[in-house]
Amino acid sequence: MKFFFITATDTDAGKTFVSCALIKALTQHNNTSKNKKLKVAAFKPISAGCDLVDGQLINEDAKLLSEFANCAQSITHINPIAFADPIAPHIAAKKLKQQITVGEINNHYQQVKLLNADITLVEGAGGWRLPLGPITIESSLTASIDNKKSTYQFLSDFVKDTDLDVILIVNMKLGCLNHALLTYETIKADGVKCIAWIANCASSDAMNNLSENIAELEQLLPIPKIAQFDFIADIDDKGNNISFYEKINSASKKINLSVLI
Ligand SMILES: Nc1ncnc2c1ncn2[C@@H]1O[C@H](COP(=O)(O)OP(=O)(O)OP(=O)(O)O)[C@@H](O)[C@H]1O
Ligand SMILES: [Mg+2]
Repeated sequence: MKFFFITATDTDAGKTFVSCALIKALTQHNNTSKNKKLKVAAFKPISAGCDLVDGQLINEDAKLLSEFANCAQSITHINPIAFADPIAPHIAAKKLKQQITVGEINNHYQQVKLLNADITLVEGAGGWRLPLGPITIESSLTASIDNKKSTYQFLSDFVKDTDLDVILIVNMKLGCLNHALLTYETIKADGVKCIAWIANCASSDAMNNLSENIAELEQLLPIPKIAQFDFIADIDDKGNNISFYEKINSASKKINLSVLI
């Protein structure tokens, strides 16, 4: 069983797009040693920006992940912590007088692990150092206010505690060299393994000197680049609409899975 955490240089860098493409590629891969398809589960612990559907907060990322993963997970199983407002999750939590803790995320993650999937893909939120906010731990010895200890947690603490291998998505745009290197160095300094990176063009504005920038990152990041995705427009050269599923299908064929399986 393998577990991967998808992080990125920033929000909107393509974590969901790439996660769906990875899941598609993995579920279609022929596991020749066992002669059966891989079971792939998805987990998006925290989301902010959800629609209320039949009394449940539904996040678009979780919905998309559920359409590609093949472990019959419900949307809330994939995304247990959801906030309606499209704002930083810990601020959304604070507005509701709630806390998000590593312990809570880990409890939900244990539920996903019960699926015994061959591969579990965990999509982060925002970038690597996503704040969860301060938590107050009461001393077990006494409930006295003096014995309350405040500590600040980040989503990266969950990854550290669970020993997930990280895949870094780099949104290829001006400034990405700095963001990619800082993110890689911080993951490493946190004692977490970043095993691969993916160059993704998440915007229709093509980056100037894209190939030079990718070559630079290939030289500076000491991990393999396992895919490079061009921006796929909604309409092709002949004027035909391209659906999200068609985009994911074509992206999924461009991934070198050898590092992951
Ligand atoms: N290579 C690509 N070609 C076309 N569209 C893309 C590509 N990569 C990303 N997108 C689109 O860009 C938008 C942002 O990507 P995505 O939602 O995957 O980012 P994210 O990192 O998951 O964001 P968040 O931090 O909100 O979870 C989406 O509409 C997605 O479909
Ligand atoms: Mg996303």
